[in-house]
Amino acid sequence: MSEIVLALDTEDLASADRMLELLGSKLKFVKIGPRLFYLGGRNFVMSLKNRWNVLLDVKLHDIPNTVGGAVSALAEMGIFGLTLHVAGGEKMLREAVKRRDEVNPDMKIFGVTVLTSIDESEWGALAPGSTLEEAIKARTRLAERSGIDGVVCSPKDLTTVKEVSGKLLTLVPGVRPKGVSLDDQARIMTPAEAKKRGADFIVLGRPILAAPDPLEALTGIMNEVG
Ligand code: C5P
Repeated sequence: MSEIVLALDTEDLASADRMLELLGSKLKFVKIGPRLFYLGGRNFVMSLKNRWNVLLDVKLHDIPNTVGGAVSALAEMGIFGLTLHVAGGEKMLREAVKRRDEVNPDMKIFGVTVLTSIDESEWGALAPGSTLEEAIKARTRLAERSGIDGVVCSPKDLTTVKEVSGKLLTLVPGVRPKGVSLDDQARIMTPAEAKKRGADFIVLGRPILAAPDPLEALTGIMNEVG
């Protein structure tokens, strides 16, 4: 079963509220990114978390002590989950898990393997000598070994991720219904394909938020993943 997560990437808090008014009764999971978090902070997140499962997508990436401190502050909010970059390394990941466990063991930690906007040629410039697939495999192994709950990955990487780990949850952006703009996403698939490949959480933002009728777009996507 795949859950739909709305990436609530609106310009401002008022537009976010309007979108939630329109779509909220159909949604279980809402993803808040850095923009809304920087605009609305803790109060905004707290105003949502009793009604929806809030995933705070702030992609933490820093030294272990700094990330640990951030995780423990965020875990106190009682949110469903948060994201960090697996590229921060094993010590950072383990510290995040430790601080989460001290405050709110139910909060899920998802690690970004490689951003879904990065394709093979951009990866070549970032890490010459390794393929994107090797990097995703290595980072998935690291995620499992470090005890985080899941990975954020492109739908194209689901097969690779599932081969490496049967245990990690998958949070999957880079999903586009047929005929919709790719925006800046590179490694994409349709919602139905992502479900077929075992995505646990399917993240969609612009295909819903920028649709002429967002409710119709969301309903169509929900029907597609059944
Ligand atoms: O609008 P769109 O459907 O492309 O939104 C995808 C969401 O998933 C955005 O909020 C983006 O920040 C997030 N994301 C991503 N790739 C990752 C991790 C998160 O696109 N690897």
